[in-house]
Amino acid sequence: MAAKEAVVEALKEVSYPGFSRDIVSFGIVQGVEVSDTAIQIKLVVKSDDTSIDDKLKTSVQEHLEEKFSGQSVNVTVEHQTAPQFSTQPQEEKVTYLSTVKYKVAVASGKGGVGKSTVAVNLAVALAKLGLKVGLLDVDIYGPSIPLMLGVNDKPYYDGKKIFPIEKFGVQLMSLGFLVDNNEAVIWRGSLVHRAVQQLMNDVAWPELDVMLFDMPPGTGDAQLTLSQSVSLDGAVIVSTPQDVALLDAVKGVKMFRKVNVPIMGIVENMSYFLCPHCGERTNIFSTGGVKKECDKLDTALLGEIPIDVAIRTGGDEGVPVVQADPDGAQAKAFLEIAENVKQKLQTA
Ligand SMILES: Nc1ncnc2c1ncn2[C@@H]1O[C@H](COP(=O)(O)OP(=O)(O)OP(=O)(O)O)[C@@H](O)[C@H]1O
Ligand SMILES: [Mg+2]
Repeated sequence: MAAKEAVVEALKEVSYPGFSRDIVSFGIVQGVEVSDTAIQIKLVVKSDDTSIDDKLKTSVQEHLEEKFSGQSVNVTVEHQTAPQFSTQPQEEKVTYLSTVKYKVAVASGKGGVGKSTVAVNLAVALAKLGLKVGLLDVDIYGPSIPLMLGVNDKPYYDGKKIFPIEKFGVQLMSLGFLVDNNEAVIWRGSLVHRAVQQLMNDVAWPELDVMLFDMPPGTGDAQLTLSQSVSLDGAVIVSTPQDVALLDAVKGVKMFRKVNVPIMGIVENMSYFLCPHCGERTNIFSTGGVKKECDKLDTALLGEIPIDVAIRTGGDEGVPVVQADPDGAQAKAFLEIAENVKQKLQTA
């Protein structure tokens, strides 16, 4: 008869479909029963996506049958659906950042779709709406928020705590502050975890209504580890209208739901062209795709941002368009998203 511990050890050798991480560390193994003749495994997947069930069952079954031949193996897969966005912070998650009410990721599947641009402008817009806002740049591939907010200084360290830098009403910290500008960094998993812990624990964060996290692009292990070490309360997904970006955005939604982070909605960036001369709106890409996908995913389209030179130069010059031209059409697009996010935080 196999010992229960040996079965758990064997399960650590089975990876979650699509990830290199094993199913035990993923937290989906919720029951292991071992008798003289049988092994019974209960898996609980935190999403309503049933497409991986068969693969999951087969890989667990085959692995255990090979390891413990002679015993029958029975695997059940149950689903626990992620909650809709709720203003109730999940209690077990409030371990870090106790001065912060809501931790919200700004994420995308695909790189270069404008996550950091949205994160920066959304943060400034939320501050303009009267919220106390923090912005934490955890992009392991290239922290860009300090540049986008025109911050060249390193934060003050008093020997015990690091003090966030305030810019345009937003409290800012960045992974980039922890390393020299010219230093090439390869963030290993454990290092990312430690650095992010440091950004959360060793920083003198004031009382904040919301903290936005500018996430690295992708939906792999790095993003997953980060989402888990941060204990997020919600995620805003950024996509452009092209199919490739949208496919990756859908992957992003699924990744967050897998780890029980509620999706607040999708922002469609570079959605249309706004003529700087006459203000006319031209749809460059086909329209409606992001909205359709939002409906399918049962999530909200939080807003559409035009592709616009003032938005790019705002980022390059360190003054986000919401700050540089608060009455312009571009700022209005971001403010509308901020209103939606604020409302979801306060009244869902
Ligand atoms: N709506 C927009 N109009 C014009 N330019 C934009 C817009 N959104 C983003 N950009 C520009 O596109 C480039 C990529 O944007 P950004 O850095 O925000 O993307 P990202 O998703 O954070 O990228 P990464 O995946 O590398 O972190 C930047 O030069 C930015 O100024
Ligand atoms: Mg970025």
